[in-house]
Amino acid sequence: MASVSHTDVIATITDQAVTEVDATQNEEQLEAVRVRYLGRKGLLTAQLKTIGDLPEAERRDFGATVNAAKSRLSRQFESRLLALQRVSRASALTSESVDVTLPGRRNDRGGIHPVTRTVRRINEIFHRIGFDVAEGPEIEDDFHNFGALNIPIDHPARAMHDTFYVDDDHVLRTHTSPVQIRYMKTHKPPLQVIAPGRVYRCDSDVTHTPMFHQVEGLVVGVDVSFADLKGVLTYFAQEFFETDLPLRFRPSYFPFTEPSAEVDIGCIFCKGTGCRVCQRTGWIEILGCGMVHPEVFRQVDIDNEAYTGYAFGLGIERVTMLRYGVDDLRLFFNNELTFLSQFR
Ligand code: DAH
Repeated sequence: MASVSHTDVIATITDQAVTEVDATQNEEQLEAVRVRYLGRKGLLTAQLKTIGDLPEAERRDFGATVNAAKSRLSRQFESRLLALQRVSRASALTSESVDVTLPGRRNDRGGIHPVTRTVRRINEIFHRIGFDVAEGPEIEDDFHNFGALNIPIDHPARAMHDTFYVDDDHVLRTHTSPVQIRYMKTHKPPLQVIAPGRVYRCDSDVTHTPMFHQVEGLVVGVDVSFADLKGVLTYFAQEFFETDLPLRFRPSYFPFTEPSAEVDIGCIFCKGTGCRVCQRTGWIEILGCGMVHPEVFRQVDIDNEAYTGYAFGLGIERVTMLRYGVDDLRLFFNNELTFLSQFR
């Protein structure tokens, strides 16, 4: 009978397919078997197409038989596929071993930038003698950068600053002195603080960069005197340069201090006999300083009958150049590795 023989054919094909599936050794062979039986022109698929030759009454049973065979075969494929994948992964793990004794890739070691080194060193020296460290914003308003420091709008000292304006009321701070104002508005005397940071001036040549660093110092208390200022700066210079340097205080002018001075150190290159670096004077200027002006105290509501104070402002690149013997300011900012790697 036709239907019996059809069912037998399907069983035979399916058994044969299962045997072939189980004999495959890799995914490629398995895929070939799948195409041969289950593909669009596959043997089992072809059986389904003979359904039209059957009498109406037998078609339903025959369809069910073919579909059952197809799904049995599909399950067989899937489990064989998993088994083959397991085997190939296991063999990859044993054959592709990693040689852990090979030398690793070299990591380039960075270094601390000389300016950062100097800031840390300055902070450390002042920390030892009781100074706090403060910071302020690099975009400042006119009041903090100028007005409160006794530099009113028409003051000629503004011309010295080559200011970068952000808008009518804001500038890139031209010095770290505005941090004095911020600190005095938020802290009550006695206070001793330094404020290192970036400052900006519209100026660029061999000895000027548009951005550079300063550290501001401020001490306010009862009976703080110019002698204290001299003592602290002398201590700082000797610690920083690690020699017994002479200091010279030259009378000067700053709107926010009175009296004011500029401080020179004895030239560390020629020991004062005169050389190219000190322009044959034997002295090198490193900072400006003075006694806090009463008008500045008035701006921050500190009683200038009860308190006195001193302040100073030091150029960080300047002292870094002197300490490490660097003769070009621009070396700090053009990111030459040959220069920077000397500071590892
Ligand atoms: N702010 C001054 C400048 O940038 C430096 C300075 C001078 C700071 C005297 C001070 C000071 O605190 O007392 O040129």
